[in-house]
Amino acid sequence: MSDIIYSTMKNSEEIEFLRDRRSFNYSFNKVTMDSLEKHFRLKDSLYLLAKKEERFVAFCSIDRGWWEENFFFIREILVDPDFHKRGIGEKLMSMCIEHAKNCGTVGVVTETDFVNIPMQKLCEKLGFTKWENPQWKEGITYKLIF
Ligand SMILES: CC(C)(COP(=O)(O)OP(=O)(O)OC[C@H]1O[C@@H](n2cnc3c(N)ncnc32)[C@H](O)[C@@H]1OP(=O)(O)O)[C@@H](O)C(=O)NCCC(=O)NCCS
Repeated sequence: MSDIIYSTMKNSEEIEFLRDRRSFNYSFNKVTMDSLEKHFRLKDSLYLLAKKEERFVAFCSIDRGWWEENFFFIREILVDPDFHKRGIGEKLMSMCIEHAKNCGTVGVVTETDFVNIPMQKLCEKLGFTKWENPQWKEGITYKLIF
């Protein structure tokens, strides 16, 4: 959509704009906000914000905070319910994947709940496959190897 502006967060104060944003039963609560602030400081983190004028539309972040060597982790993605199913989530995730490629990584990882069908379908559409994660069994881990 041409009226949606995509930008990159340049400093950690901008993260505050995300607080308590929600979509389905997912929200940017204190735990998520603290995690976003912590991972923003890592080298090569990319925090993408989508807005329509001053209104929040969507957010997606990727960073190096994954335990396997040279993988990036898509830590958060959230699209405001008024903007679902317009290709915004797919666009943001694609931008994060492209960023990881440009940084010379091996691949990208992300995690989601067993019940989160929209996120599972989105990952599969972008070429991710399910990965047996020895460290996390409470949901599905997806990997995209370049
Ligand atoms: C998952 C989420 C980010 C998708 O965002 P979106 O902008 O609505 O998704 P898009 O319009 O880009 O859809 C791209 C693909 O995702 C899948 N998808 C998106 N919404 C879906 C839904 N409600 N049901 C099934 N598949 C869905 C489809 O494969 C879709 O491709 P298609 O349109 O060709 O069918 C959004 O539903 C969301 O914000 N969910 C709540 C937050 C969340 O769960 N984050 C992930 C935590 S791990």
